[in-house]
Amino acid sequence: MKKYVICGVSNRALEMFIKPLVNEFSKENKIVGLLDADPLRFSICKEKYPQLDQVPTFNPEQFETMIDQTKPDYVLVTGRDDTHVEYILRALHKQVNVITEKPMVTKASDANKIMQAEAKSKGKVIVTFNYRYSTFHRKIKEMILEGKVGRITSIDLNWYIDTYHGSSYFKRWNRSRENSGGLSIHKSTHHFDLINWWLDQKPEEVFAYGALNYYGQDGEMNPRKESGRFCGTCDVRNDCSYFRRWNPRAGSTTVRDDHLLAGVYEKDVPYTNYRPDACIFDEEISIEDTYVAAVKYDGGSMLSYSINFSAPYEGYRLAINGTKGRIETTEYHEPSRIPFEYPEQKIDYYPLFGGKETIELVQDPGGHGGGDPILLADLFLGPDPARKYEILAGAEAGAYSIAVGEGVWRSVAEKKPINIKEILFHSEHQLT
Ligand SMILES: NC(=O)c1ccc[n+]([C@@H]2O[C@H](COP(=O)([O-])OP(=O)(O)OC[C@H]3O[C@@H](n4cnc5c(N)ncnc54)[C@H](O)[C@@H]3O)[C@@H](O)[C@H]2O)c1
Repeated sequence: MKKYVICGVSNRALEMFIKPLVNEFSKENKIVGLLDADPLRFSICKEKYPQLDQVPTFNPEQFETMIDQTKPDYVLVTGRDDTHVEYILRALHKQVNVITEKPMVTKASDANKIMQAEAKSKGKVIVTFNYRYSTFHRKIKEMILEGKVGRITSIDLNWYIDTYHGSSYFKRWNRSRENSGGLSIHKSTHHFDLINWWLDQKPEEVFAYGALNYYGQDGEMNPRKESGRFCGTCDVRNDCSYFRRWNPRAGSTTVRDDHLLAGVYEKDVPYTNYRPDACIFDEEISIEDTYVAAVKYDGGSMLSYSINFSAPYEGYRLAINGTKGRIETTEYHEPSRIPFEYPEQKIDYYPLFGGKETIELVQDPGGHGGGDPILLADLFLGPDPARKYEILAGAEAGAYSIAVGEGVWRSVAEKKPINIKEILFHSEHQLT
């Protein structure tokens, strides 16, 4: 029986980890402690999962007491991004394994601290990069390993986040670089990790442009320049295109997003000191919502990446070019939010010399492209012995994905290319 303590009883923890741990994986696994800065989170959790009624709860200062009392095999780190570093370091210091949500941390210098602490600890770090596990992403990894594209020369990845999901980041703690590292870390950590994993190379240098185009006080759709509003009580919300698009005047929306609970505005929100409907046009918003970036890798590959957090639909376009062929795929995401017909995802493979193949895959059920359930099985039952390649990410993968993300926003701020080793291994590079 493996024992877990949860650090950060977040929405993600409740749905992604606690629910399966108390249900399908409860024979082999047990939650023995809950830690959060906000005691309300414990009552929400215990009401939802009465199986945890007797599980002891702890505040952040009691971390070591919790470890001594409950003797866990794993610390599951699932709180706000900026809280990860502290619990990962404290767990490693206590020689305990860590499973952490992405982003592992919010700064490259903290990522380095974690790699150093892990090297001295009996504990190991796993980063739950669920995007690696999606049906399509695993197939692409397999095609690369089979040599279908040869040596990879360049990758084009354009990611689009729709107005529902994109605006959700600007309503919550995610909108502050202090809390999340900014979106080139908080969100793009997934994308940079995927590319790093597919390539099996280390990123060396990044150059990027970025801007705040849609959100913040100067957003073009801001109905009135005034900070401190909340959607639930806003008197100009019916003049706000982002609100009106997703909140009909009558009835409720059927849109889905695992980051923001649709419909929470009118009810008591399940948080203390925090409402998830802060105004997306608040003056304090200073992170970017649009990026284009170029990344150079140590094996010679080059990445051209862009992301936009206010697109009319969600999805991505990917092309991988190599000396033997090219892979192409386009994803449209979340049917409940796409108001037009769109094609099912497929993979097109073009050998450099020869006929095109189209690969149709049976989509695995579950969140994040079918990735979440397979990741959970690897975490809670052990890595699938039938799989022939490494997929669970460790601290180094977590660190390099964060270093690229920090390189992106730093390059925007400093208007120059950023060397990845420098920001990862020279901690004098502090947040500006
Ligand atoms: N992999 C994915 O696809 C995915 C999806 C959603 C969220 N996430 C990640 O999951 C984590 C939680 O996100 P969420 O949106 O569910 O968060 P949330 O806003 O629901 O919860 C944050 C939690 O952190 C707690 N907290 C704040 N400060 C703390 C401290 N010092 N010590 C302990 N607890 C503290 C809060 O009380 C709250 O319980 C984040 O790291 C996020 O990036 C990952």
